[in-house]
Parts: sequence; C-alpha cells; structure tokens
Amino acid sequence: MSDPAITTPRLLLRRWRDEDVEPFAAMCSDPEVMRYIGSGDTRTREQAAASIKAFEGMWDEKGYGLFAVELQSSGRLIGFTGLSEPMFLPEIMPAVEIGWRFARQSWGNGFATEAARAVLDFGLVELGIPEIVSIHQTDNHASGRIMQKLGMRYDREALDETCGRSVHVYRTP
Ligand SMILES: CC(C)(COP(=O)(O)OP(=O)(O)OC[C@H]1O[C@@H](n2cnc3c(N)ncnc32)[C@H](O)[C@@H]1OP(=O)(O)O)[C@@H](O)C(=O)NCCC(=O)NCCS
Repeated sequence: MSDPAITTPRLLLRRWRDEDVEPFAAMCSDPEVMRYIGSGDTRTREQAAASIKAFEGMWDEKGYGLFAVELQSSGRLIGFTGLSEPMFLPEIMPAVEIGWRFARQSWGNGFATEAARAVLDFGLVELGIPEIVSIHQTDNHASGRIMQKLGMRYDREALDETCGRSVHVYRTP
C-alpha cells in the first residue's frame, strides 16, 4: 500500500509531507495538546520532525500508520489519526491501536471523531484487522468520549509504566 488517502465530509487523511513539520511541531509544543500524552512533555521541532519520519517509516514497514489530517476547506494540517502498535502497554500486546492528536484551535468540531470513524473502517474492513484497541489516560475524558462515540467497549484499567500514569483500554466490539 503505497499512498492511501481517505476523504471524509470535511477532512483529507493522507501520508505526511515535508511541509507538515511546521504545523505539527507547533501543536506538539502546546502543553494543552501534550497534557495526556505519555508524561505530558512538549516536543521540540527536531523531535516533531523525527516523529513524522517514524510515522512514514511505519507506513512503509507495516502497511498502516498515522494519517496526517488536513482540513479540506483550508488545506491546513490540523492533526493526526491512525493506527499504531501500543508497545508502551506490553500486557495487551500484540495489538493495533487507534489514536489521535489535534491542534487546539480545531477542538470541539467533531473532527477527531469524523477522522477516527474513517480510520476504524480502513483498519477493520480494508485491512481486515480483526480487532482494534484504543487507550486514553484516565483523566483524558474527551478521548474516552470519542471511544464511546465510536461504539468501542471498555476493557480495563492498566498502568502505563513508561510514565507511571493509569490508562483505560477500549476495544472494538
Ligand atoms: C482529544 C481530542 C482529539 C478531541 O478532539 P475533538 O476534535 O475536539 O473531538 P470531537 O469533537 O470529535 O469529540 C470530543 C468529544 O469529547 C467531549 N469532551 C470534550 N472535552 C471533554 C471533557 N473535558 N470531558 C468530557 N467530554 C469532553 C466533547 O463534547 C465531544 O463529545 P460530544 O460530541 O458528545 O459532545 C483533542 O482534544 C486532542 O487532540 N487532545 C490532545 C491530544 C490527545 O489527548 N490525544 C489523545 C490521546 S489518548
């Protein structure tokens, strides 16, 4: 699968480009965006650029990965949604996880849910992955709400030992 892209009513989900580094670095430098990601640390521009390289490497290696999410009306990168392996939680491995991260100015419009529905369909139907999990830090209620809106079912609470924070695990039915 060389260049998958998905169009939803308002969004374009696509692979990453060099010009995504600036807007992605800006969102990863926002403490509110990073608050419930690992230990909550913000990322430098170099770290954000390295992450994009890693996302692209994963697409090439696995045939799935994190999509860059662009707003169709402006062509602006607003975040990502996609599939990855939750290596930080060995007790549920092997597994494929759906995750998301959006720039703060885009929150509250249903974009994360719209993108995630399309990615779940891509993973379950197009790729034939039998089950997809999703994991949020317990205080990240917006992400928990998205998992519920997606029709996922609560599985368990667990400890993310990489940062010492507790998480909730959801699974597709
Ligand atoms: C989580 C995040 C992706 C949500 O993006 P979004 O585009 O605003 O999400 P949506 O609008 O599709 O849905 C959010 C839902 O959570 C609800 N919500 C938002 N804040 C909430 C809170 N503090 N408590 C409970 N529900 C909340 C919204 O009302 C909405 O539900 P509704 O449609 O029933 O009203 C965004 O806040 C984000 O990028 N956060 C930082 C990165 C992050 O935490 N990623 C997830 C790691 S698990």
